[in-house]
Amino acid sequence: QVEAVIFDLDGVLTDTAEAHFQAWKRLCDELDLPFDRKLNQQLKGVDRAGSLAIILAAAGVEASTDERAAMMARKNEFYRDAIAHYSPDDLFPGARECLLSCLAAGLRIGLASASRNARDVVRALGIETLFDSITNAAEVTNGKPDPEIFLTTARALGCDPTRCVGVEDASAGIAAIKGAGMRAIGIGAKDELSTADRVVPDIASLNLDLLVDPTTNEIP
Ligand code: G6P
Ligand code: MG
Repeated sequence: QVEAVIFDLDGVLTDTAEAHFQAWKRLCDELDLPFDRKLNQQLKGVDRAGSLAIILAAAGVEASTDERAAMMARKNEFYRDAIAHYSPDDLFPGARECLLSCLAAGLRIGLASASRNARDVVRALGIETLFDSITNAAEVTNGKPDPEIFLTTARALGCDPTRCVGVEDASAGIAAIKGAGMRAIGIGAKDELSTADRVVPDIASLNLDLLVDPTTNEIP
């Protein structure tokens, strides 16, 4: 019996995955580091420091702690610029309806985002008050693919992880959900999210049956 659904934010409820990509791209262009959409795939769901480490490693560049901090601050400035005008119109079609249908069915809903900007984003999107729990990325020691953020959110919701379903667009996130012992729903391309129990192209395609009925696991 499913009691709770735990959602990722970026790329699941809104298109901030694209805003993160554009912000990293601006930073890399400024520093003359190679960066493209293929490398960006590895950054999805990964926290800010982890993302920068992947970019620097791919470029074969070393940077001091202070230099990294400055790069992360600059990227975050670009990202904050991009989300400054976010409003409920920036929710993906069907996202609000999906959250509301979970609540109407008596399920609890949680947010498990690796982003330190997550609370500001959900507030701008007008969905902050719908969540029963929003895990602060700063409370978590180990980022995705570690299951910690999903386990922390399940605990805050008062649900056993086996009674939770996680929804993610990133392969690191699917790994985190599975590691937490939860059923995983992938949002996006099947070949990139092959370890999910079920993959749908977007949140508008998600319905309550797909979320709570494990017999819908087989990926056609
Ligand atoms: C999410 C996104 C990542 C992003 C991370 C940290 O998980 O999928 O692309 O790097 O959050 O976001 P932040 O807003 O803290 O830099
Ligand atoms: Mg995501």
